[in-house]
Formats: sequence, C-alpha cells, structure tokens
Amino acid sequence: MTEKDFVPSSYTVEKSAGTVRWKSPSNIALVKYWGKKEEQIPANPSISFTLNTATTTTSVKYKKLGIPSEIFKFDFLFEGSAKEDFKPKIIQFFKRTQRYLPFLKNYHFTIESSNSFPHSSGIASSASSMSALALCLVDLERELDPGMTTEFFNKKASFLARLGSGSACRSITGPLVQWGDHVETEGSSNLFGIDYPYRVHPIFEKYQDTILLVDKGQKQVSSTVGHNLMHNHAFAKERFAQAHRNLTTLKGVFETGDVTTFIEIVESEALTLHAMMMTSLPYFILMKPNTLEIINRIWAFRKASQTHVCFTLDAGANVHVLYPENEKAQVYAFIEEELLQYCEEGGHLCDQVGSGAKKL
Ligand code: PMV
Repeated sequence: MTEKDFVPSSYTVEKSAGTVRWKSPSNIALVKYWGKKEEQIPANPSISFTLNTATTTTSVKYKKLGIPSEIFKFDFLFEGSAKEDFKPKIIQFFKRTQRYLPFLKNYHFTIESSNSFPHSSGIASSASSMSALALCLVDLERELDPGMTTEFFNKKASFLARLGSGSACRSITGPLVQWGDHVETEGSSNLFGIDYPYRVHPIFEKYQDTILLVDKGQKQVSSTVGHNLMHNHAFAKERFAQAHRNLTTLKGVFETGDVTTFIEIVESEALTLHAMMMTSLPYFILMKPNTLEIINRIWAFRKASQTHVCFTLDAGANVHVLYPENEKAQVYAFIEEELLQYCEEGGHLCDQVGSGAKKL
C-alpha cells in the first residue's frame, strides 16, 4: 500500500452532528524505534507489546459548519479543563492528516481526553493519545463511508496515528505490533503497524509490565529532538542494521517461547537506545542513579531466583519491568520489597499485554 490508498475518493453519507469515543492503550517497544525520516517514516523497524491499563480515552463531538472553514475549528479539554497548550500538537496533527481526512475543515470538533495514569508521571502519553484521536477521526470517516472494512479501518487508524506520533501507530491492535519495513516480515510497512503475523508462544500473550516511576518530571529531551539526533550519528548505520537483526531473531523467540533470548534482546535494545543518546551530539543521560539501582537489582534477583524478569526503558528514567504471568507472585513480591524504594513516592503502575483499542 502507498499513502495514496489512504486518500478517500468520496463519501456516501452526510453527517451533521454526533460523537465518537475510543479508549486506546500505550505500548512498550521491545525493538526500539529511534531515528526517523520525513513524515514520521522510521529509520528502522520496531515491535512492541500493546499495553492494557495505561490508556487514553478520547471523545470527539462533531458538528457540521454552515460553510467549510479556512482554519481547523476545535476546542480541546484534558481531564475536564480547557488546555490551550495542547492545541498546537493537534493543529500539527490536523495539518498532516487533512489530505487523508478531507472533511476536517467542514466540522467544529470538541475533543475531550483523559488518561488512566497521572499526566505528570513520566509515562509517555503520546502513543495512547494520538492513537485515540486517530481512531475517533477514522470512526467519523467510517460513518461517512459505512462500507469501510475493519482491516482498512485499523490500517488507516494506525497510518494516521503515525503522523501524530510514530510509536502511536503500534497502539491500535495487540498483543504484538510491528512497524517498519523488514524484509523478513511479510506485510510489514513503514506507513502503519501490523499485527505480528507469525506464531506467538502463549507465554508472551499475558506478559506483565510493571512500570516503575523513577522520575515523574518532564522529559529532558523531546522525542522529536531525540530522533533527529540520529541524523549524522556516528553509530546510526550499525544501530539500524542491528534492529533488523533483532527482529529476525525475535521471530524464533516468539515461536518457541525462548525467554532467555527474549531477555537478551529486550535489555540490549533498551541499553542501546540510551547508548545512542549518550553518544549523540549534543549528548544526554536520561537514566537516573535509581534507574541503575533497579537494573542491578533485577539482574541480581534474576540470577538468584531463576525467574525470567527483565527490564526495558523508554526515552526517560522510568523502568518497565517485564515478566511472564506465571512468575507474577514471586516477581511482584520482589518489586515491592526491593524496587519500589527507588520510585518517586513509590509510584508504579501494574500493566500487562493487551489486545488493543476499544470503541466506547
Ligand atoms: O513516538 P515517538 O516519536 O514519541 O518515539 C518514541 C520512541 C521510543 O519510545 C523511545 C521507542 C519506541 O519505539 O517506542
């Protein structure tokens, strides 16, 4: 498919007013997307677990204007209050998507959004919020074009979410979504995320993710700035090649349930992401001393307990602790006993792999 496939030709139904509402999850990358080209095209393919509990709920109330507007007309409310400072990001999203959603200037929208996790938790909300907004808008489009298939609906929602925030394209379905051209993954695309198309061992279907809130502060580096640091990065070429190789290795891992190799790839990916930031110009250290304490505790516990707990990181100090469901009691007791002391006010969120966004 190409971008053109997402430009609609005509609509069969007229809609003057209504509301659409979606709840969309966050996701955690196992192979990381870090580096992009124009229009949110990834420099390397990535794969993530869709989460279940960390979600954004968005409703879009639409009302047809008498005459189409010159500018995008909308109000935005976050957790019940008007939020002017969020509007530029939405305007940018509308600008990038208007070619694919030609009705945008025909309506006034009231967009209301809320998160299942505290906004200032350091949990990135762009994946869940941009995917929820994209889903609402494709849902409105489906009302204008009721013949739209579910397959196309999901692809277009992912395609549009990508234009809002790259990783958001991996939040439409679940439990595993791959995004970015990878020769060994049939159907993979730079334009949208796809359901991982091969066999997945049941151990990965209910994987647990306990998110440890080490630092609830604002991000030190926005992801846009971070991605751009991969242009002219000394190690970029090798890093992008490594992501392709890791995806190929994961294919066998997912099929057989080889958790040991899974851990090796996932932890290496997390540390590589941070290594890229530490070796860019300008350079950044996003981990905090407590991030390293947690990682060392996880390694010591894993060795002593023979469990399969591991960690991954986003572009920040928080730690995602990943483990199989059948080890939940033992690993969670360890988290409570040893890891929560390193979290800001003990902050953490218990999540697990989920099946994707839901219409409300
Ligand atoms: O979607 P963005 O542009 O915020 O980038 C997110 C990148 C990482 O979270 C660091 C990695 C990933 O693949 O999700």
